Amino acid sequence: MSTLENKTVVVIGGSSGIGFAVALASLQSFASPVIIASSSEERVKKAVERLKAHNLPGVIRGEVVDATNSASIKDLIGRLGEVDHIVWTSGNKVNAHFPDFEPEMGRAAFDVRFWGPFTVAQTAKIRPGGSLVLTMGPSLIRPQPTMSVWASVTGALDGLIRGLAVDLAPIRVNAVSPGGVDTEFFDDLPSNTKDVLLKNYSDKLLIKRFGQPEEIAMAYIFLMKCGYITGQRIDVDGGIALA
Ligand SMILES: NC(=O)c1ccc[n+]([C@@H]2O[C@H](COP(=O)([O-])OP(=O)(O)OC[C@H]3O[C@@H](n4cnc5c(N)ncnc54)[C@H](OP(=O)(O)O)[C@@H]3O)[C@@H](O)[C@H]2O)c1
Repeated sequence: MSTLENKTVVVIGGSSGIGFAVALASLQSFASPVIIASSSEERVKKAVERLKAHNLPGVIRGEVVDATNSASIKDLIGRLGEVDHIVWTSGNKVNAHFPDFEPEMGRAAFDVRFWGPFTVAQTAKIRPGGSLVLTMGPSLIRPQPTMSVWASVTGALDGLIRGLAVDLAPIRVNAVSPGGVDTEFFDDLPSNTKDVLLKNYSDKLLIKRFGQPEEIAMAYIFLMKCGYITGQRIDVDGGIALA
């Protein structure tokens, strides 16, 4: 049976939200070492402490990487050496609501979510049997008003996973496409704005609520463990396409 036992799992974006849940679920699946990386040294340190507090078997480590900078990503890949699975959940907060933003803002969304994992794919040393799992979003199949940039980023990622599945074969490349997930991503919003956003979005779903990070993490674990799936996307989005 396919397992993550003693597999090296790297989660770039693992200091919070979905990435943190993937790191925890990997430890619960006996992966070791589990390495989380993101841009803030302090957030990485705190996340490593939170993971260790679960007292699970497995080595946990933190790394700092600035996903807007390809040299920083290449440095990280060099420090990691050979690994089994890399999960990319890093995502910066970008205010790019159509039409009122400068092109640089839109490019910033691509820098972290598209060019970041692209650089990883060019440089990572993934062992046979391993995989790369990227992160998309529901704008590909159901763009909300003003979200053209996000529809474009996710569309580019949809192409990227299939292109990389061919270029990196037999290393597998897949993606998870989460819907609305209650994470630290929304923490900067005033609490009443966040509540309204969650309520309005939830009303549009078949499953009338936001997802929890642990629910989304299960799809990443499946994509790492199943050795016969590549070039695919799993939508874990509360049924937004059918609502
Ligand atoms: N939550 C949702 O509803 C939802 C829905 C669909 C898609 N997504 C996508 O899923 C991904 C994860 O979202 P989330 O909700 O888990 O968000 P989150 O809790 O804010 O996590 C984002 C992660 O990205 C890291 N990050 C941000 N900028 C970075 C940079 N320049 N370099 C390296 N790491 C960076 C953050 O750590 P540092 O701050 O330490 O860098 C953090 O670990 C994002 O791409 C998001 O757009 C989220």
